Amino acid sequence: MNQAAKNYIDDLLYQSSRLIGVDFLKLLTDTFPGQVTFSSSFSFEDQVITQQILNNQLPVKIFTLDTGRMFPETYSTWSSTNAAYNTTIKAYYPNQDSLQDFIETNGPNSFYESVANRKQCCFIRKVEPLQRALKENSVWITGLRAEHSGDRKDLPLVEWDESNQIIKYHPLLHWTTEEVKQYISANHVPYNPLHDKGFVSIGCAPCTRAIKPGEDFRAGRWWWEDADKKECGLHEHQPPSSKEELSTGVIIK
Ligand code: ADX
Ligand code: SF4
Repeated sequence: MNQAAKNYIDDLLYQSSRLIGVDFLKLLTDTFPGQVTFSSSFSFEDQVITQQILNNQLPVKIFTLDTGRMFPETYSTWSSTNAAYNTTIKAYYPNQDSLQDFIETNGPNSFYESVANRKQCCFIRKVEPLQRALKENSVWITGLRAEHSGDRKDLPLVEWDESNQIIKYHPLLHWTTEEVKQYISANHVPYNPLHDKGFVSIGCAPCTRAIKPGEDFRAGRWWWEDADKKECGLHEHQPPSSKEELSTGVIIK
């Protein structure tokens, strides 16, 4: 991808300490015209970022990875977002042949049977489409927050993503859950109604459940697996160690 973008990291880190929110987004879109993209899963966080991008008419491409297994409520949130901002959020889909082979070999719900199957499903439905979505871009904006998990708590606001060869920016990294909720409510931002039913971190329907008060933020994701395996490969912090892993989709954290 865009190795030249890597040279901007130090300067952007400095600028991110003095410019906040929309001002920093503007700096990014001025520095990398037509090469800034934002991935939305229609989560609380992503809806805040979408509102900031669209209300300020920032030239950021917004996309979602439609895994085909999302909740009906997530599709409704996608529709209401399109309607609220008079926009069309672009979707990337899994490669049809890879998905067909995987389902024919393993069945439709094999993610419950092994971590390898689960990671392969995530690779086919999310990671490979993400790689297509990020092509030709220099900056990838995400809704990651430090409060989400131990892995995310020490992230920098701006980082170089070696796996995808792209600058990553997490505008809400230091927002608390309460701040996100208050922003949504004060600005009448459309949001996923599952957030009102105990769902906090929302992914695919078969792999996400509501959590109880006091449970960990990501306790509802892949709840049948060990806590240290709960990433789908979208936010790797090291490159996959071999081409073979990429082709099978089994990415070891
Ligand atoms: S995941 O890696 O566990 O699936 P998580 O649900 O916490 O990620 O979301 C973190 C960020 O990853 C979101 O704010 C969004 O930027 C991106 N993301 C996650 N899932 C998707 C998706 N299906 N489509 C687009 N972006 C996504
Ligand atoms: Fe497949 Fe579950 Fe990963 Fe979605 S979250 S891609 S259904 S394993």
